[in-house]
Amino acid sequence: MRTEQPSPPLTIPAVASRKGRTPLVCLTAYTTPVARIVDRHCDIVLVGDSVGMVLHGLPSTLPVSVDMMVLHGQAVRRGLKRALMVVDLPFGSYEQSPQQAFDTAARIMAETGCAAVKLEGGIPMAETIAFLSARGIPVMAHVGLTPQSVHRFGGYGVRGQDEEAESVARDAAAATRAGAFAVVLEKIPAPLARSITDTVPVPTIGIGASENCDGQILVVDDILGTMPELSLRFVKRYATIGAETDEAVAAYADDVRRRRFPAEEHAFGTGASQDGDR
Ligand code: KIV
Repeated sequence: MRTEQPSPPLTIPAVASRKGRTPLVCLTAYTTPVARIVDRHCDIVLVGDSVGMVLHGLPSTLPVSVDMMVLHGQAVRRGLKRALMVVDLPFGSYEQSPQQAFDTAARIMAETGCAAVKLEGGIPMAETIAFLSARGIPVMAHVGLTPQSVHRFGGYGVRGQDEEAESVARDAAAATRAGAFAVVLEKIPAPLARSITDTVPVPTIGIGASENCDGQILVVDDILGTMPELSLRFVKRYATIGAETDEAVAAYADDVRRRRFPAEEHAFGTGASQDGDR
């Protein structure tokens, strides 16, 4: 009888070698059960600082702490067998100096078991990317719309239009020259994504950056529709979990109020009863 061979975990060189080949499939995850599912289908799992907005109801990613990233990183790690795990460096934990970035990244890698970290910025972060890369910390860079700069940008609009295109391209080039193994391009025009992807030697991973990238990433809750009020042009929704959850909770509340739940089959008698673990 043949048994299915588990695929080996994806490595940084394996990710790098996907440049210009089969697109890299990437999603965020923040919890063990979702990480288990994402791991079955994706190449890269990002524990994004979007966790602050998605799971904690924060107004932006700025208040997210290193402790939060470690806690969610540990939860995600328990769900992974194959995908490459990347954890975001949160705002304020790396920008001050390469040494500060090293200390934060080393803690996150040691405590979560992730293979790489992601940080926002191109030219201003090039020295830091080089410092980390030279010391065994693989870095995924993130340019274009960098959400930690929301106040500088004045919102979450498209970046790299018109005269700004050149500076986004220079950011991507500087990050990859400094040693980033991949670069996230967020919310930039399709022609700019094409020219960056054609120029940099490492995989580009797009979010709102068209098909002109070597891979794609989205926030997992956005494809699941857990927040139905959110409508984003660059997201394709594959489920309506938020609406279904609303219906399920409403039905439960109604059942309890009308004494339809619990029914006899949900109650225990006096003899030994079988039940699950929880
Ligand atoms: O925090 C995040 O979720 C990200 C995106 C690229 C998905 O940085």
